[in-house]
Amino acid sequence: MRLQNNSPPVSDLLKFMKYANKIMGFQWTAARSDKSTELFKLNNDLKKCRLCTIAELRHNLVFGEGDPNSDIMFIGEGPGEKEDLTGRPFVGRAGKLLDQMLSSVGIKRESVYIANIIKCRPPGNRNPSNEEISNCTPYLKRQIEIIHPKLLFGLGKFASSYLFETDAAMGKLRGTHIKKDGIIISCSYHPAYLLRNPSAGNLFIDDLKKAIKCIE
Ligand code: URA
Repeated sequence: MRLQNNSPPVSDLLKFMKYANKIMGFQWTAARSDKSTELFKLNNDLKKCRLCTIAELRHNLVFGEGDPNSDIMFIGEGPGEKEDLTGRPFVGRAGKLLDQMLSSVGIKRESVYIANIIKCRPPGNRNPSNEEISNCTPYLKRQIEIIHPKLLFGLGKFASSYLFETDAAMGKLRGTHIKKDGIIISCSYHPAYLLRNPSAGNLFIDDLKKAIKCIE
């Protein structure tokens, strides 16, 4: 007498696995695209913003770019000339240096998210005013909520003061970290500062490596 085989045929199992993958894959894709959809909506809201006079002067809003699912988000200061012309963050000389710094620690620019404290270019690349920062940072706050990275890394004084909520000098803040809302916050020098002070490049790399260790 032969034992009866009650298990489903392999072809049925394969069908079921394909189906399960399809469902799980669909959910995963939905979660990913939700972030992109939310960022898209926020970008559209920002395009309508005229809270600051510099909004009238811009060629392009510089919203931010990169992988919205990245564990790492960098925050710079504000768009310069090239960024204003292209609508992309960190594409000028400071941006090239940032790319080099990232690749020296094994990070590809496209694998992280990069944004700025303010989204419109201050004329002549002056520092952002307190009013511009307070008008623009609610948008940044929302951008951070959507992306919810593991690590937020401030580039330079303006981003670091905002993230750490302090006026402490960069020399005191760099290389340190705090944790807020489950996100590690750290910072280092702005790449434009590194262009003027190349010897600080190694400190930047040390600070970035140290910050990345916190999320490994
Ligand atoms: N400097 C910044 O802080 N941000 C940019 O996008 C470019 C230069």
